[in-house]
Parts: sequence; structure tokens; C-alpha cells
Amino acid sequence: VRRGCGLCVALDAPDLASAERWAEAAAPFAGLLKVGLELFSAEGGEAVRRIARHRPVFLDVKLHDIPNTVAGAVRALAPLGPAWITIHAAGGAAMVAAAREAAEKAAKGGNDADRPRILAVTVLTSLDAAALAETGVAGGPVQQVLRLARLAVSAGADGLVCSPREVAPIRAALGDGPALVVPGVRPAGSAADDQARTATPEEMAAAGADWVVVGRPITRAPDPAAAARAIAAALAA
Ligand code: C5P
Repeated sequence: VRRGCGLCVALDAPDLASAERWAEAAAPFAGLLKVGLELFSAEGGEAVRRIARHRPVFLDVKLHDIPNTVAGAVRALAPLGPAWITIHAAGGAAMVAAAREAAEKAAKGGNDADRPRILAVTVLTSLDAAALAETGVAGGPVQQVLRLARLAVSAGADGLVCSPREVAPIRAALGDGPALVVPGVRPAGSAADDQARTATPEEMAAAGADWVVVGRPITRAPDPAAAARAIAAALAA
């Protein structure tokens, strides 16, 4: 039996004041709010603390370093209270395991439900087969996504960030266990912006996504709350 699919709103703002306005508008319809590298670099931990007052935070910092350093970063981020922290699966199994272990040790009162979940990014969607080959990866994106997805989940990642077209193959390969979080989602009829391959919220819910990440169709809408409400309703239908 599949679980439902929730809405995560990407608060891609250069400053906390704008992000908080969007958070306030979207919070009644969103299960998660995403703080990315731009906002985190500008405002630091305060961005996570403040946004977390509205909804649980998906902290998209895509950590990638030696295991000891990544563990230290997860340890430092955990007290800010993010529900999810992203790491790069390409950092290797030991790095993924170190992130998971640091997250478990940071669980408040030893309660596992209260720790940050570790979400692994496989291949950046900005890399096509040619760009990937330049980095020494010959097999093409899909093969590499599945390889890194398996590696990350067996090393302890709680879930994966993936593109719309990867949801079905990853579910087929890895089953219902890992949480799948999917950006590049656009409601039918809305602008693609710079997203090359998009899918609708309904398609992603049917394919087995747990969360869809939507930014600009909500944050740039004349009425962000109405835009978020419509997407949440589509996911619930
Ligand atoms: O505005 P939009 O809905 O395109 O925002 C999507 C969000 O998801 C952005 O924060 C973007 O950085 C993130 N993302 C993405 N594609 C990926 C990984 C992350 O669009 N492959």
C-alpha cells in the first residue's frame, strides 16, 4: 500500500524576510519547507530556526566531503532542527553511513523519530550524458542514478532526491522503503521556467513519490497561498 504524497515548497529567496512571507502563505498547504544553499548561505542557521516555526524544514545543503567532516556538519546542523538534510551519494558509502550515524546520535532524547532524516542526491539533473562522461562516468545518467541510489540506501540514507523520470525506475529497483523527494514538478498549464523535464503533481503521486518540491509556481504566483492550495488539492485527489 502506497503512502500519500505531500507538498514541499522551495523557498528560494535571497533573504529571510521574503522566505518567511512565502512560508507563511504556503504553510497551511505544505508538509515541508525547503531551505536551499542560497538562503542558508545568506542567513545561516537562523533561516532554519525561523522557517521551522512554520513547518518542518528540508535543508538542501547537499553535503559532500570526507566522512568525518560530513558527520561534523550533520552534528552542527541537527540542533537547528531540520527534518531532512541532503548529502551527495557520490561521496561514497562511508560518507553516507557517517551522515546517518551522526543524525542518529543527534536524536533528541535518543528518540529516533526526532532525528534529521538523511536524503541522498544521486546525479545532478544539470548533468547530461556528455557532461557526466567528462567526469569519468561512462554509463549514462540512468545507470549512474540507480547505482548511486542503491549505494546510498544500503549505506543508510533514509531517502533520495530524484527527477520525475527516475521515480518509477527507482521504486522498481529499490521498493517502497526509501522516501523519494522530487523537484521539477509543475501543475498542468504552468510555466516550466528552466526545468527541462517536468511532470505534474498527480503523475508523481501515482508514480510513488513521497514529496514533490515546487518553488516558483508558488512563490512567483500572484497569490502564493492559492497556488499552494491547488497543488495540495491535486496531490490529495
Ligand atoms: O522553482 P522550482 O519549482 O523549479 O524549484 C525547484 C527546487 O528544487 C529548487 O530549489 C531547485 O534548486 C531544486 N532542485 C531542482 N532539480 C534538482 C534538484 C533540486 O529543481 N535536480
